[in-house]
Amino acid sequence: MHRLFIWIIGILLLMCPNRLLAQIYCIKTVESGQKTSLRGLSVVSDQVIWVSGSAGAVGKSVDGGINWEWMKVKGFEQRDFRDIEAFDENTACIMGIAEPAIILKTMDGGKTWKTVFTDSTKGMFLDAMSFASQQNGIVIGDPIDGYHFMATTQNAGDTWVITKKQLSNKALAGEAFFASSGTNIQLVKDKKGSLQYVFATGGKYSRFNVNQQYVELPIVQGKESTGANSMVLNESNQSGMIVGGDFAQDTIAHHNSIYFNIDKKGTVHFTAPIVPPHGYRSCVTYINKNSLIACGTSGTDISLDGGKNWELIDSTSFHVVQKAKKGNAVFFAGSKGRIGRLEFMQPIK
Ligand SMILES: *[C@@H]1O[C@H](CO)[C@@H](O)[C@H](O)[C@H]1NC(C)=O
Ligand SMILES: *[C@@H]1O[C@H](CO)[C@@H](O)[C@H](O)[C@H]1NC(C)=O
Repeated sequence: MHRLFIWIIGILLLMCPNRLLAQIYCIKTVESGQKTSLRGLSVVSDQVIWVSGSAGAVGKSVDGGINWEWMKVKGFEQRDFRDIEAFDENTACIMGIAEPAIILKTMDGGKTWKTVFTDSTKGMFLDAMSFASQQNGIVIGDPIDGYHFMATTQNAGDTWVITKKQLSNKALAGEAFFASSGTNIQLVKDKKGSLQYVFATGGKYSRFNVNQQYVELPIVQGKESTGANSMVLNESNQSGMIVGGDFAQDTIAHHNSIYFNIDKKGTVHFTAPIVPPHGYRSCVTYINKNSLIACGTSGTDISLDGGKNWELIDSTSFHVVQKAKKGNAVFFAGSKGRIGRLEFMQPIK
């Protein structure tokens, strides 16, 4: 019965790949009752989910998103925690963007937080963190004196070392990062085991940085509101997707996304989607081999063919979407404390 059902869905998908997604996938929205704007999301497993946002708010669920525990980080009640990286139900790092830029870490489930990084340099604005493992992480921020701010940790966020100003992190005038979902940088371990980062910038210029070299992105740019917001790289085959657009015109789909692969020589090849996501998207991630999801203020799209064709499945506004690091659950977070969960084959109500 079940197998037959899947078989029928498979046949239907083959027949009309772009018509049915909205009926197969839907987003179940949980109104958390919080007023906070959530942009930090870390899905540890199908059970353990952490979110972070404005007004010093951090939320955690240990039962797959049914119940949420909300906390205000003591002494940081006015801060905007735009990114979070959690490792289990006890351990997480949160990133507070500016004045001063801070990173806090908890090891007791959020009861107490320790400041592990603080920088009060004028103009500091942190945008995103990425961890290749629990030990190794990176954080990026807007340019200071013309260089993208970067710092790395090798001890699970306990201490951070600021990267030197060099050609590989030199910014163009008006080029920065969006702090919209904490996903415009990815730290990966390459086949030889050494750490490599890739990142995507936005603003007046939008570029992709691979192997410490920049390439211009074929994504809308030229204004403060334009450019790449998020990227995902499949490190095992060196390909992935970059999304963005213009957040001031969030239903425009023109030049809002690109998929890429990096060849053996390190050259990046870009291919524009045939049907791009339907508007500005602040976050993209894989949900499966060959399947991607992207969300933004004007809705969520899914692609089942590695990023070539995208279908709008829901028009609810979300800032960030992440799949469980260990598991299959896919969660969303957005403004007004909104949290969502991707459901597969919900009966139509
Ligand atoms: C990454 O690519 C490999 C090789 O094509 C594939 O087996 C794997 O499932 C992909 N991973 C994701 C997350 O899509
Ligand atoms: C890598 O794997 C993804 C997911 O399986 C696939 O969509 C993509 O086409 C592959 N890219 C390359 C260059 O093999």
